[in-house]
Amino acid sequence: MPGVNTIAFGGDYNPEQWPREVWDEDVRLMLEAGVNLVSVGIFSWALLEPREGEFDFGWLDDVIEKLHAAGIGVSLGTPTASPPAWFWKAYPDARPVNRTGVPLGFGSRGMASPSSPEYHRAVTRIVTELATRYGNHPAVRIWHVHNEYGAPISDDYSENSVLAFRVWLEDRYSSLDALNAAWGTAFWGQHYGEWSEIDVPRLTPSVVNPAQQLDFARFSNDALLGCFLIEKRILNELSPGVPVTTNYMATSCPSIDYWKWSQEMDIISNDHYLTASREDAHVMLAMDADVTRSLAGGKPWLLLEHSTSAVNWQERNIAKTPGQLARNSMAHFARGADGIMFFQWRASRSGAEKFHSAIVPHAGADSRIFRESKALGNGLGALSSTLGSTVRAKVAILWDWESNWALNLEWRPSEDLSQRRQTETFYTRLWRDGITTDFAHPESDLSGYDLVIAPTLYLVSEAASANLDAYVLGGGVFVASYFSGIVGVNDAVPAGAHPGGLRDVLGLQIDEFRPLRAGQSVTLSNGLSGSIWTDDIRPATASVVTTYEDGPSAGGAAITRNEHGKGTAWYLSTEFDVAALSDVLDGAFAEAGIVIDPTHDENVETVVRHGDGETFTTYINHGENDVTIPGDGIDLLTGSSANPLVLAAGSVSVVRRPE
Ligand code: GAL
Repeated sequence: MPGVNTIAFGGDYNPEQWPREVWDEDVRLMLEAGVNLVSVGIFSWALLEPREGEFDFGWLDDVIEKLHAAGIGVSLGTPTASPPAWFWKAYPDARPVNRTGVPLGFGSRGMASPSSPEYHRAVTRIVTELATRYGNHPAVRIWHVHNEYGAPISDDYSENSVLAFRVWLEDRYSSLDALNAAWGTAFWGQHYGEWSEIDVPRLTPSVVNPAQQLDFARFSNDALLGCFLIEKRILNELSPGVPVTTNYMATSCPSIDYWKWSQEMDIISNDHYLTASREDAHVMLAMDADVTRSLAGGKPWLLLEHSTSAVNWQERNIAKTPGQLARNSMAHFARGADGIMFFQWRASRSGAEKFHSAIVPHAGADSRIFRESKALGNGLGALSSTLGSTVRAKVAILWDWESNWALNLEWRPSEDLSQRRQTETFYTRLWRDGITTDFAHPESDLSGYDLVIAPTLYLVSEAASANLDAYVLGGGVFVASYFSGIVGVNDAVPAGAHPGGLRDVLGLQIDEFRPLRAGQSVTLSNGLSGSIWTDDIRPATASVVTTYEDGPSAGGAAITRNEHGKGTAWYLSTEFDVAALSDVLDGAFAEAGIVIDPTHDENVETVVRHGDGETFTTYINHGENDVTIPGDGIDLLTGSSANPLVLAAGSVSVVRRPE
């Protein structure tokens, strides 16, 4: 980011919710807390364009000047996630319609129909005005486009959407014959004779054609991406050199294919909120951060939002414990974030989010949360030498939104199938073993990884199938769990036995799926137990590592291993829990040369960032005891020598060492 030469620190700043007297106090407190970047204007459309085509930038001019005078940079929001009331009155057809046919009203926030020409026109006008006025302002460091595309909703069943879906399909298939073949419309008499007969997948008496649903998910993703690109092109032209981003929800927005979006982003940024009900929320945080870094192609990225303490939208909004704010923030830093930002600077007094935490809570600056935020901001100020350093991983988990969309459609062999849950289980095993993990698209270059894991990767395209085959032939170690490689891009089963997309690489065929009953478990010949699933496996070139002792596949293969070219491919036909995965992955780890540090403490999250001739290792002590870490180096947060490093319970250190 131009003009930012240390880790960015700050948050969403909504001065329009406050009288001007408060603005001076805001800037004073921001400086005290070490804030150097704030996101402004994200929901300000109604104030900036109070009537159609009439603009009032006076207040925003003053805010930006005030911040600039204090040396605080601006991440300037485009306010297009919340069109003004006049827009909805003038253009009611721009409202999104839900699957039951109900048009959604004004009074909260969220998308307009992403396919509405009126919305596109209004977006073009406000973004052009903003970019013309502020595009070359020295305080503007980054453009923050829209807000969390895909939330609160991502599907639109309006007439605008129907028309745009047909255009999208014509573009994808060129001919109706191709579409009929791809969707398998011979089934249930769904053949189309005219493009105008095709509808969005609304509520129907039974299950809608799965290929149609999958294409609608792709179309909905592309429609939103199209909205982003309208804005991005204007900003790149009128504000050259200022990077453009939009805030992702890396693992918590199932409807957006961020691999695709990341090709269009100048900088990757993410929002993350803990699920307070989960004991392992910090592990899920790490997973989210690792997905974000992977989307950034291993380069640094920005955390644009997280919370200082409780959010306001979960069943029970649990406050963070002392020190948790720093641990959470530094876990994002450890995994490659070059900016740590919060929603939000000052807690609102009105509106739906008034019970959400902030850097300045309702209690004001004389509060634990402000003090902890300030300590964090000042600590990050000591980390400028880490800027631009990167994280390296030898293991990748395959992560594909399209496969997830397909798997989550109706009428699968078991409702217990979940790519998400399987991914979490494998990730947690690696997290506990202290192994830094990337996420990768199945069609991406995998040659840099020693081990690649496919957790229930249901949909495997022909390109992915060839890619995985080449990876193993070239010497890679591959582990696939059950119900992987079952369908191709149209949710159709390829010719021959399952798993069509992975049959060669795994060296086996599956004659029948044999899912388990709810709560049922099976015992394996190695003494471990599995749940959810088993298969009737017929090995071809694969050898059987473990068999089932009981259950529907008793006597048959449970785990197989296939030597394929220079590499090996393992197949796990049942679900293992995190503890069992230790044993199950042992062989694959050994073959891939993955060694678990015998001194690794599961409570100490340890991640290395590589700089120019030096490394920066973040240690986060999630446990209740102090821990001593041997070795030399400088603890950048305290400036003292770390020989050894005594890491107090709940604390964080960043140690610099020569590479
Ligand atoms: C985010 C959103 C913010 C705020 C926050 C509350 O999803 O981008 O505007 O609503 O949630 O946690």
